Amino acid sequence: MTQDELKKQVAKAALEYIKGYAILGIGTGSTVNHFIDFLADLKGSIDGAVSSSRMSTERLQKIGIPVLDLNAVGQLDIYIDGADEINPDLYMLKGGGGALTREKIIAGASRQFLCIADETKYVDVLGSFPLPVEVIPMSRSYVAREIVKLGGQPVWRENYITDNGNEILDVHNLTIMQPKALEQTLNNIPGVVTNGLFAMRGANMALLGGPDGVRKLTL
Ligand code: A5P
Repeated sequence: MTQDELKKQVAKAALEYIKGYAILGIGTGSTVNHFIDFLADLKGSIDGAVSSSRMSTERLQKIGIPVLDLNAVGQLDIYIDGADEINPDLYMLKGGGGALTREKIIAGASRQFLCIADETKYVDVLGSFPLPVEVIPMSRSYVAREIVKLGGQPVWRENYITDNGNEILDVHNLTIMQPKALEQTLNNIPGVVTNGLFAMRGANMALLGGPDGVRKLTL
């Protein structure tokens, strides 16, 4: 199976876990795109979704699912999203698609976080995938220097502006032994909007798609 087929398989498996929920939190990325496509068959039972990106919003609207303002919805029952890496504690590294800030907001506002990913995303230690950090544009160089002091190697994602009008530094060279501590340290640098570590609020459950089927991980 190709990696895309694995993503599709896991997206389909996730449909089992949204039964009874009328409003969903929806992440961003190619795995979530498959999930949204599957929602087209269920749209009679879904009142709406809170979306983490323009890309997901457009896809949801295309299949007729209303996109709702998080402020009007309050706490969500479930948030479904992919990951660039996930570890055995169900901490994740996210933001390869640049939607990390809205993803983290919706994850925080949801009772459950269901991570859907192909099994190549499962790692013992986070950090092989470059860690995205969203920054206010004027702070970019300063934040980059602070990250170098922490041992990271920041690379400006050039010609890329987030949905929030900000820029992204992708931080290479990290072996993240203490994800919660690093998440907080990075977020304390002035100019950082947020970073792609999802450890303070990890996933409650993960579905990992592999050639032998879908594996479910819970804490
Ligand atoms: C988007 O900003 C990311 O956090 C995605 O969740 C992550 O990149 C997973 O993407 P794929 O589903 O495309 O692998």
